[in-house]
Amino acid sequence: MIFGAILAGGIGTRMNISDMPKQFLMLGDKPIIIHTIEKFLMCARFDKIYIGVHSDWLMYMNDLIEKYNLDKERLVCVHGGADRNETIFNIIKQIKIDYASNNDDIVVTHDAVRPFVTSRIIEDNINAALEFGACDTVIKATDTIVRSKDEKTINEIPNRRFMYQGQTPQSFKISLLFNLYNDLNNEEKSVLTDACKICVVRNTPVHLVLGEVANIKITTVTDYKIAMAMVGGINFD
Ligand code: CTP
Repeated sequence: MIFGAILAGGIGTRMNISDMPKQFLMLGDKPIIIHTIEKFLMCARFDKIYIGVHSDWLMYMNDLIEKYNLDKERLVCVHGGADRNETIFNIIKQIKIDYASNNDDIVVTHDAVRPFVTSRIIEDNINAALEFGACDTVIKATDTIVRSKDEKTINEIPNRRFMYQGQTPQSFKISLLFNLYNDLNNEEKSVLTDACKICVVRNTPVHLVLGEVANIKITTVTDYKIAMAMVGGINFD
């Protein structure tokens, strides 16, 4: 089976313009998270789409699903976790409760705050996870990446040809990710906030799927302004 996992357990501390987590801010005619869920609902290959929501906002999320008339039959809301990976594993635990586990089941995990994901990216993720077991969505780095250990001077300038910027979705065979995560100790769990990194530190290959420059993550107010311009809501005057 194929599952979506939309991660909305965060509270958006870097956005800081509203009491509301950023995934609930309006983008054009609907909240950011509704755009994201609708992109996932457009993909008929998902058996179910899980949404990991911060506990204080679960009722609000359910109200939004009603308000925007989303297909309730295909959506399940679960409690988010203390960090991003914990939200993913709360979803995986619920999938395991709801369905008998099958080694080939896959989960396509995606940030609620990346509303411009495309159907092509989602399809490529499903195909890559089925074929390779794990994949990450990336774009080639356009800026030169510099590395600084002391945050004051440059230690290294890696060859840009080999540099990519990570986006989401990140997709996995559920059994693979579950086993790798359960093998981590608590310290590793607190450091490995990126799900693909769980694979990388355990020498499990992660296939690259090509993302899109437009598949931005809305992290700061500037990102939010760019996103509003992308849906035609504001100009930059
Ligand atoms: N996320 C999550 N569970 C958490 C933390 C984050 O599901 N405990 C989700 C966020 O809701 C978001 C995605 O992971 O959709 C990417 O994280 P980020 O942009 O860092 O979101 P926040 O944690 O909300 O933002 P900040 O780091 O600024 O507080």
